[in-house]
Amino acid sequence: MLAYKGFNIHPHPLKDEGRRKEEIEKVKSSKLLFIGAGLLLAGAMVILLSVGKADAGIAGTPHDFSGRLWGSNEICIFCHTPHNAAATQLAPLWNHGSTAATFTLYSSSSLQAIPGQPAGYSKACLSCHDGTVAIDTYGTRTGNNMITGSALIGTDLGNDHPVSFTYDGTLATADGGLVTPASATQVVAGIPLFASKLECSSCHSVHENAKGHFLRDTNAASALCLKCHVK
Ligand code: HEC
Ligand code: HEC
Ligand code: HEC
Ligand code: HEC
Repeated sequence: MLAYKGFNIHPHPLKDEGRRKEEIEKVKSSKLLFIGAGLLLAGAMVILLSVGKADAGIAGTPHDFSGRLWGSNEICIFCHTPHNAAATQLAPLWNHGSTAATFTLYSSSSLQAIPGQPAGYSKACLSCHDGTVAIDTYGTRTGNNMITGSALIGTDLGNDHPVSFTYDGTLATADGGLVTPASATQVVAGIPLFASKLECSSCHSVHENAKGHFLRDTNAASALCLKCHVK
């Protein structure tokens, strides 16, 4: 295992982060002006409640495209549909176009894992995040709004944490510095595996953003990394 001090999991500049924070600040300050009109206590309660709501689900997160000019007023439709789902079911009732890219995979001399071409949930994420399929290509619609900025992972995964490989007791023993997964469906509580495979969704929860970057756990003091790595 290589030393990974300073390892940047997805080496992209945090361009969009600043912009998003500005937007959030704008919304916050406009709400504060409204309160200034006299409803101080009630207004503060409304803000607290609405912030709590946005954190709990997908609404208001960077995965909520319902407010976009090119969007739909629905939230789920970009990824799921109740009927006539896509032929390629990358995730349950999948309604989004699928990437056809061939990815450059992560490799290193100290890696024991054998990453495959992204499949399943990782392929679902990359069907927007590789920048080859438009965000608004869903249902029967072919869109043209591509992902940009720091959320663009691209088709070269050589500089990203490996995904789509089997993470089991055999790998943990071979590596010597990994937690042995509790089962084929989780490393430890809150960190899922998918038929023993580590996917994007092992680290990210696509539907809620309470911890930022849609992470399954805070990465303060690298807590997320330490769910799997014994370092
Ligand atoms: C940006 C894409 C995206 C959007 C938008 C989205 N989902 Fe998902 N959903 C996924 C992916 C990917 C999975 C696969 C599981 C995972 O990644 O954890 C999934 C899995 C699911 C599952 C099955 C697994 C589970 O977590 O229970 C349900 C149910 C679900 N989504 C419901 C919804 C609903 C309801 C909405 C709208 C409020 C929604 N999703 C919006 C991408 C999305
Ligand atoms: C339908 C297209 C689509 C799918 C599918 C999708 N995403 Fe995204 N995601 C986006 C877009 C667009 C953004 C950037 C939004 C912005 O710039 O405000 C984004 C942003 C993100 C961010 C950055 C959030 C932040 O706070 O900076 C993460 C992390 C992320 N997605 C992870 C995932 C993962 C993991 C999956 C699969 C489980 C996934 N996404 C599936 C479109 C998608
Ligand atoms: C081993 C854990 C892990 C895996 C697996 C993982 N990520 Fe991430 N991801 C992170 C962490 C931690 C961050 C927070 C920012 C950072 O450290 O670079 C992040 C950040 C992101 C961002 C935001 C980047 C930015 O700078 O705005 C996107 C988008 C993203 N991940 C998508 C994905 C996709 C798509 C996959 C699968 C191909 C994936 N991630 C797999 C841990 C992971
Ligand atoms: C869900 C479990 C999980 C999480 C969370 C996780 N990793 Fe990993 N990571 C692994 C596994 C399993 C491997 C494959 C190890 C091997 O084959 O040697 C790996 C591989 C790596 C490698 C490449 C090792 C090599 O020899 O090339 C680095 C570096 C790394 N992880 C760093 C991180 C960092 C930093 C974080 C936190 C941001 C993180 N990981 C989060 C499970 C995880």
